[in-house]
This record gives sequence, structure tokens and C-alpha cells, in this order.
Amino acid sequence: MGDSTALPLRLARRMSRVAPSPMLALVARAASLRSVGRDVISLALGEPDCDTPTHIQEAAFIAMRNGDTHYTASDGTKALKEAIRRKFERENSLTFALNEISVGSGAKQVIYNALAATVDEGDEVIVPLPYYPSYVEITRLVGGEPILVHTQPQNGFKLTPELLERAITTRTKWLILNSPSNPTGTAYSAGELRALAEVLGRHPQVWILADDIYEHLLFADQPFATLAAVDSRLKARTLTVNGVSKAYCMTGWRIGYGAGPAALIASMATIQSQITSCPSSISQAAACAALDGPAGVIDRLRSTFRFRRDLVTTELNRIRGISCAVPDGAFYVFPNCSRVLGRYSPAGRELVTDVDLAHYLLEDAGVAVVPGSDFGMPGHFRISYAADEALLRESVKRIDLALSALHGDSS
Ligand SMILES: Cc1ncc(COP(=O)(O)O)c(C=O)c1O
Repeated sequence: MGDSTALPLRLARRMSRVAPSPMLALVARAASLRSVGRDVISLALGEPDCDTPTHIQEAAFIAMRNGDTHYTASDGTKALKEAIRRKFERENSLTFALNEISVGSGAKQVIYNALAATVDEGDEVIVPLPYYPSYVEITRLVGGEPILVHTQPQNGFKLTPELLERAITTRTKWLILNSPSNPTGTAYSAGELRALAEVLGRHPQVWILADDIYEHLLFADQPFATLAAVDSRLKARTLTVNGVSKAYCMTGWRIGYGAGPAALIASMATIQSQITSCPSSISQAAACAALDGPAGVIDRLRSTFRFRRDLVTTELNRIRGISCAVPDGAFYVFPNCSRVLGRYSPAGRELVTDVDLAHYLLEDAGVAVVPGSDFGMPGHFRISYAADEALLRESVKRIDLALSALHGDSS
């Protein structure tokens, strides 16, 4: 029997500012089609398709057997912070003290902690567009205002010094920079970061959140670069975020980390201590094994993804109406589909937007892709090529067939 005294739930006002992940809705629809026997290939989710390497799994077993199953320090064990410190020194020439390092349940939580700790109502957070949707939603959730800066495909979807200068105001609190990027795979060279650093040098109120989660999945000839290392003057106001999810096939283990000034890190730990107490002790032990383990694991993953990137971009560019830039890194392509919009499906439905196109591809071709609108840039869609070669070939074939079946003129 229901409780007749219960009033309807009134949600907090902040809930009107935040949207659920649209991507997850699409993934759920793909799963429900599969559950009724439909043959659906999902290229929607941003996670490597391989299992966590064995030596990392072993480290978790050992941790469990050794009784490493209790709460840990709220923002990470000493052992993991030391492994992270070594990682930053080894790979980025960045030196941090342990109290300048914070471990969270995924990079996403680290980003949330940082923004929740620093953003006041109305503070502005600059986010280049297309963007990883959580930057925008987290900013809104904590009361900030995302300032979306449109980048251009002809500039490789990169923020330029001019665009950055124009976006900064006295209310700017953060710039979030993601390289290599989700969804475009674009990566900034050290020179490009230096040019942005010059602008940032003139605006000391702006903090920088460098989201380097795809650091190891960079295929371009240029070495990976991050702002705090490129311009040491910025280190005092930069949070460099990274994690084990993407490079070590550990999305489900939920370990991410950030390194930056101690005062910021301390306030992030306060938030985390009240929300999750600490990240999983077992996952932290596994993350130590990942960071201190053999580099060959990442090298193999990178060359697999590089092969797939070349395959997918070549095949997509053969499809009429699709044009796809070759990304520098990550495991996404972000093709432009604007030339097929305005056409009609065999059932007579007009594909007005990229969202319509994504639905058509899912329902009629059995391929789940994410519309560009979810990343703030309509007229595109995102494919995650973290799937095996046969599936990728089959998906592109299905997309080609589905687009060839469209009729009517888009001009
Ligand atoms: C750009 C970017 N940052 C952060 C994350 C979150 O990673 P994690 O699994 O460590 O929370 C993702 C995951 O898709 C991402 O694409």
C-alpha cells in the first residue's frame, strides 16, 4: 500500500541545471534492442574493449588476500600517491609533493571535486566546444556558468590564443583543456600550448584544469605536452588530471587522479571525505601496479588503436556525404554528417538533425553512434573505435548502406 501522506517529491533547484548523460540513454536503447534479439553494434561508449592486463588483476587479488580491504586515506593511499608522483616525474617532468596529489573514484570525480571546491555561483568556466559533456554539467551542478568557445574544424577543433583571450572575463575561474580530446581526438602540441600559456599569463585569476586522460593514446609524431610542464609559471594554478581508465583498460575500477597546488588538493579531499570516504582500496592497489608496471601494455594498446583509427577514417571518408578528419589521439572519430541531413529514410522520415541520424543508424542499421549535439556540435557524430577490426568494418559497411538508402536532396 502506498503512503497516502507522502507529498510529491520536489527536487532541488540545482537539478534543473543538470542533464543526465544522453550517451547512456543511447547505450540503454542499444542494449534493449539487443535484448529483443536485434543485432546491434555499439560504438557509443568511451572505453577500451580489452580486459585489464593480468598483472594488474593479480595485484588486486594480492591486495584482497593481504587484507587491503579497509577505508584508506580519503584522497588516496600513500603507495598510490607515490606511484603517481613517479609517473608525473617520469612521463611529464613534473614534480609534486604527496600533498599535491589527489586520488578519486575516476577522473570524473576529481574534476567534480575541483570544481565543487572552487566555483562560486556565477563563476565562469571556459570549455572549448565540442566538449566532454561532464565539464558542462558539473560546472552547472556546482552553480558555475560554462562559457562555451566554438572551435573550428579547419583549426583541428583547437582553442586558439585569440579565442581564449576573447572568452576570458574577470569572472573566469577555470579553463578546461582536454588533449587528446574527447570527442575529436585533437591534441595540442607544446608550441600551441605555449601560445595559450602566453594569454593565460596575462590573466592570473584563471586556473587551468588539464584533462590528460588520453595522454597515452597519442598517435601523432609530436610528443605529448601538458600546460603545467610547458610553462612552469602556470603550475601554481593548474590541476593536471589523469587516470588509469583509458590507458590500462580499467574503466570499471574507478581510479583517477589530479595534481596541483596543496590548498586546492586539501579542499578536494574535504569534499571527497564527506561523499565517498575514499576510492576503493583494492582498485588503488591495482592502479599502483598499472602505473609502475611495464610500458609495453600501453604501447600495444596504442598501436592497436592507431591501426583502427586509420581503418575507420579511411573507410568513413569513402562514404558519400561523410567527411572525417584524422584525429591525433584518443579512440574517437568525429565525422561531419551535415551533407546527409535533410534527406529521408526509406520509411519516409526526414533526418533533420544529427540526433535523427543517430536514431536512424541505431534503429535501421543496428549501429549505435553518439550525435555531435551531445558534445555541443551538431552536424557531426562520434564513433568510438574501441572495438575489434571485424566489428568496425561491419559497422562502417552498415553506415554506408544506411546512408545510401536515404533519398531526397539535402541541398
Ligand atoms: C575527457 C574525459 N575526461 C574524463 C573522463 C572520465 O574518466 P574516468 O573513467 O577516469 O572517470 C572521460 C571518460 O570518458 C573522458 O572522456
